[in-house]
Amino acid sequence: IDSTNRRAAVLGREGLAGPVLVTAEHQSAGRGRQGRVWESPAHRNFYGSFVLCPKVAQAELAPITLVAALAVSDAIAGIGLSDAAIKWPNDVLLGGRKVAGILTELDSSANGEFCVVVGIGVNLNLQEADFPPELRSKAGSLAWHGGRSVDRSDFVESLTQAFLDRVHAFEQRGFAGLRADYEQRHVLQGEVVRVDGGEGYTGRVLGVDDAGALLLATA
Ligand code: BTN
Repeated sequence: IDSTNRRAAVLGREGLAGPVLVTAEHQSAGRGRQGRVWESPAHRNFYGSFVLCPKVAQAELAPITLVAALAVSDAIAGIGLSDAAIKWPNDVLLGGRKVAGILTELDSSANGEFCVVVGIGVNLNLQEADFPPELRSKAGSLAWHGGRSVDRSDFVESLTQAFLDRVHAFEQRGFAGLRADYEQRHVLQGEVVRVDGGEGYTGRVLGVDDAGALLLATA
């Protein structure tokens, strides 16, 4: 199909409250963040979008993308690769290379609830030679990192369970209850970074707050 996010949004608008997962073998128009294309070769990777109407106020929905990043790192651990890290807000890395990305889009369902489409792409069985040379230091896959191929059904099962568990915890306790887990896996923790936008800020990363915003010490 063109994009699982697009298909999931249509289902949401038709009144499907979820949680439901739409997956595809291939996307002809996979979408990344900031208008980028998400390359989606057939049969090798995971492409999926959850439709979800979380039981939290709309104003508290923002960290759902960080919740999804935690779930992706859990799912990777669930299939035996224990060292996944998160780069704020929602890139998942293995060995310093990005292996997964998340694109969350807010929508309202037919009955007026606030629902989200959480789209997740994970590079599973790509090998080094499948990446263009200029990307090989930045992008990777589970199979390349782990030295063995990944059973895609096992991964879908692991991800679905992890996602539902983390969303349940988010609904119960808000992102405050997940912050410690997030910060423990956060590669930018303690690093000096520059954040663009407006005048831009440079500072040391202290962590994230209860709304999932990055906390910087700028002095
Ligand atoms: C990013 O740019 O890091 C986010 C990439 C998100 C890609 C996934 S693949 C499944 C879903 N469908 C899409 O069109 N995009 C998301």
